[in-house]
Amino acid sequence: MTGLRRRRLGASGPEVSVIGLGAMGMSDLYGPADEAESVATLHAAIDAGVNLVDTADFYGSGHNEMLIGRVLRERRREEMVVSVKFGARRTPDGGFQAAPYDVSAAAVKDRLAYSLRRLGTDYIDIYRPSRLNPQVPVEETVGALLDMQQAGYIRHIGLSEVGADSIRRAAAVAPISDVQIEYSLLSRGPEATILPALRELGIGLTAYGVLSRGLLSGHWSADRELTGTDFRANSPRFQGEHLAANLRLVDALGRVAQRLGATTSQVAIAWVAAQGEQIVPLVGARRRDRLAESLAAADLTLDQETLEEIERAVPAGAASGQRYAAPMMDLLDSEK
Ligand SMILES: NC(=O)c1ccc[n+]([C@@H]2O[C@H](COP(=O)([O-])OP(=O)(O)OC[C@H]3O[C@@H](n4cnc5c(N)ncnc54)[C@H](OP(=O)(O)O)[C@@H]3O)[C@@H](O)[C@H]2O)c1
Repeated sequence: MTGLRRRRLGASGPEVSVIGLGAMGMSDLYGPADEAESVATLHAAIDAGVNLVDTADFYGSGHNEMLIGRVLRERRREEMVVSVKFGARRTPDGGFQAAPYDVSAAAVKDRLAYSLRRLGTDYIDIYRPSRLNPQVPVEETVGALLDMQQAGYIRHIGLSEVGADSIRRAAAVAPISDVQIEYSLLSRGPEATILPALRELGIGLTAYGVLSRGLLSGHWSADRELTGTDFRANSPRFQGEHLAANLRLVDALGRVAQRLGATTSQVAIAWVAAQGEQIVPLVGARRRDRLAESLAAADLTLDQETLEEIERAVPAGAASGQRYAAPMMDLLDSEK
């Protein structure tokens, strides 16, 4: 294992690598992925000292968990802190149902049973609802998670895309390790009320979309073709004038990166990690070259002067377009 630093995910959470790996794109939503390369990337991450690996039961409708299960069997269990989300409902053609998220107490136990089997493990490190369902009180979902924690099937309880009020209500029921939420130079929403609540309650933040789903990576261009099932084909920030405006911000960030002798992706990831000791960026690398580029961000220290330069290049609120299409924005308790 290398010297990748560790951070504790909140007062009650596990110790994890300063950068985690999100496996979603290995099964879903970002176009075709190479399975052998995905497995090699997961192993390379663990070899490099990454222990936090994020998935969901609905990524590839179970495919992503089976992929991680394969890697779990080839490693020592304690080398990985596996974070699993549940609640979204899929369709056989690879789509998502418009039906509300399935996060009732009954669903928690049912989904967990299937996830444990697919992963081939007898416990999940962090288990969390992917979105809340306004018809199901957060206390019901977290109460069921607490039962599963007390029974030993999960080690920690997490949340995803929740606002400050729901965080407080959940934390009154059970200790919460971390909230997973989109946070990047282009998505600064958590700074207003969510980050202060997390700090106050001793809860960590696992940040996804730190590269704004590739837009902020320095590898994106306006002529990149997107297939119909690619999430980005329907994401406002990747369309027309929004895309052109966002790529101008990426160019400005690229100039800062050049001065630092780093890549645009590395500066974007290091910026998220620099926002607080309780924050852990998840990178969506699904190839070893992208992983190596991302992990080098852990060695990039951004001083105050550089942070100010980055803020001038990509000011808060400068992103053009919403981070999700309107129907998906409506599902976000964090945006209410
Ligand atoms: N809680 C939630 O609601 C939620 C939502 C979305 C995601 N997540 C989790 O967060 C993880 C990360 O999110 P994300 O995949 O959207 O994050 P991301 O890191 O912002 O985006 C990943 C995309 O960036 C591209 N990329 C370009 N350069 C890269 C580099 N150096 N390193 C890594 N990727 C690079 C990848 O493209 P190529 O592969 O084509 O190179 C990939 O398409 C997911 O895997 C998932 O586990 C959670």
